[in-house]
Amino acid sequence: MTSIVKRSTRLLAGAFIGATALMSWMAAPIVWAHGNVAPQAVDTTGLPELGAEWVETNPFRDNAEFLDLAIEIGASAYNQNCARCHGLEAISGGIAPDLRLLEEEYDGDAWYVERVTKGAVRDGRVYMPPFKDMINQEGLWAIRTYIDSRPDD
Ligand code: HEC
Repeated sequence: MTSIVKRSTRLLAGAFIGATALMSWMAAPIVWAHGNVAPQAVDTTGLPELGAEWVETNPFRDNAEFLDLAIEIGASAYNQNCARCHGLEAISGGIAPDLRLLEEEYDGDAWYVERVTKGAVRDGRVYMPPFKDMINQEGLWAIRTYIDSRPDD
């Protein structure tokens, strides 16, 4: 009796170690290829302050004064915070939706805000973490501006 218990415990432990090793082996290239895992603060210096209330549409779209800066800040913020799931330069590798296909202009803004502020959490599973408390509104609109600037072919 004891030996069976021991043997199956050992088997279980072996399987567990095997699975863990396999998982880290699989996870490692994704982490290396797609940049940092911990959310990175976004420096939005130079962009106008938008306050705590979310504006309804992207304030940097069609904004001659701030468009270039928003794209620049958004590119870096995207690659540090979103690329590991949505792909480098917004080209999805298949893990998460290709964001270049989001509805452009005003139609996609509401859905974008919904997802980036609340994330995608169902049945306690985090498919995408909420970014509301990590990146300010200016930073998240800059990311949207960058995504919009990417060609989607
Ligand atoms: C941990 C992986 C992960 C990270 C990091 C992540 N996302 Fe996502 N995102 C997902 C997944 C998975 C979905 C699909 C959610 C679902 O199943 O409903 C998604 C969906 C979205 C959608 C809705 C897309 C659609 O077609 O409906 C938007 C917009 C979005 N993410 C933006 C972002 C932005 C911007 C960032 C960075 C600030 C980001 N995500 C970071 C995994 C991630």
